[in-house]
Amino acid sequence: MENELRQLASESEKQLIGLKDLAALEVLKIEVLGRKGKLAEIMKGIATLSVDEKKVIGQVANEVKAAIETGFAAAESRLAGAAEESKNAAEWLDVSLPGVKPGVGHLHLTTQAIEDITNIFAHLGFVRSRHPEVDWDYYAFEAVNMPKDHPARDDWETFFIAGADGEQMTGKKGKIVLTPHTSNGQVREMEKGVLPIRMVSIGKCYRRQASARHLPMFHQFEGLVVDKKSSVTELKGVCDYFAKSYFGPDRVTRLRPYHFRFTEPSFELDISCGVCGGVGKIDGVKCKLCKEGWLELGGAGMVHPNVIKAGGLDPDEYSGFAFGWGVERTMMMRAGINIDDIRLLYRDDLRFIRQF
Ligand code: PHE
Repeated sequence: MENELRQLASESEKQLIGLKDLAALEVLKIEVLGRKGKLAEIMKGIATLSVDEKKVIGQVANEVKAAIETGFAAAESRLAGAAEESKNAAEWLDVSLPGVKPGVGHLHLTTQAIEDITNIFAHLGFVRSRHPEVDWDYYAFEAVNMPKDHPARDDWETFFIAGADGEQMTGKKGKIVLTPHTSNGQVREMEKGVLPIRMVSIGKCYRRQASARHLPMFHQFEGLVVDKKSSVTELKGVCDYFAKSYFGPDRVTRLRPYHFRFTEPSFELDISCGVCGGVGKIDGVKCKLCKEGWLELGGAGMVHPNVIKAGGLDPDEYSGFAFGWGVERTMMMRAGINIDDIRLLYRDDLRFIRQF
C-alpha cells in the first residue's frame, strides 16, 4: 500500500509537468485528489489494516497527499502565469498608434431642407405641426371644398387604401387615402380650436405618378394662417420672406392667378430665376433653366370661406391664407443643387448622398 501511494505521488508529478492549461489541471486534480479519485481509492484499503500498520500508512498517506497538493499548487501558479501572459500578448495595445477615424454621416438632403424650412417659418411665428399621412378623404377633399365626385379631385392622383378583403377601406369620415397633399391639415388644425393659427405642417404626400420630375412619395409643406384679419399682402410678404431666406436676398416672388377649390383668390407662386436673375435672357439668349425669368414654386391663396366653415369657424369673423409647396422641388431649385432626376433622392446611393 505504501508503494501504491508513493507510485501515485511520482505518477502525478510526471503528469503535472505535461499539463498545458488550467482546465486540464482541474480535470487531473479531480482524478487524483477528488472524492472518488485515485488517492481516495487507495485509502479505502486502510480499514483492513492493523492498528500499527494504520499508523505507519496513515503517516505515509499524509506525506504523499501533502506532496501531491504542493505539486498541484505549483503547477497551478505556473499555468495561471502562462495564461496571463498569453492574454496580455493578445490584448497588447499600442496607444501611440494613430486611430481609425469612424465614418461620420449627415442628415438626408430632404431632412436638411425640412429643418431649414421649419426654421425660416419659425422666425415668422409659424409653429410646425403634424397631421396624418393616411387620412379620410373627408379631410383631403370634402373639408377643403371638394365635394364627393367633384372632377377637381382628379388633379390629385390619389391612392385609395384597400382592406384585407381587397375592398376600399372606409372609416367614419369616408374612404381612407394616402394624403395626396398636406392640405388635409388645414381643417384638422382649425378643429384643434386654438386661434390664431400660424402653422407649417410638413409631411409626406402620395400620388400615382413616377418620372424624372415626379415621385409617388414626396413631401410638402403647408402654411396656414387663420386670424381675424389676414390679407393677400401678408401672404405675399410671407412668400417673399421665405424666398429671400431660403434662396438668397436677391430673389423675389410673384403671385400668378390660378384656381384651387380651397382658396379664393388662388395663386401659383413663382420665384425669380437664380440663373438669369428673373430677366429670362442671358446676353440676348433665352435662359435655359427658366426660359422666361420665373420658376414655379407651388400653390397659395386666401382660405375659402367654406373651408373656414368646415373648420368650425365663422368666415365673417375669421379669414386666412394658405400655401402648399413641394419640399423636394423647392430644395432642388436652391442654387447649387441641380438634380436632373428627382428619383435619385431616394435611391439610397451613397455616391449621390455623400455629395451633399
Ligand atoms: N394643396 C395644393 C396642391 O397640392 C397646394 C395648395 C396649398 C394650394 C394651399 C393653395 C393653398 O397642389
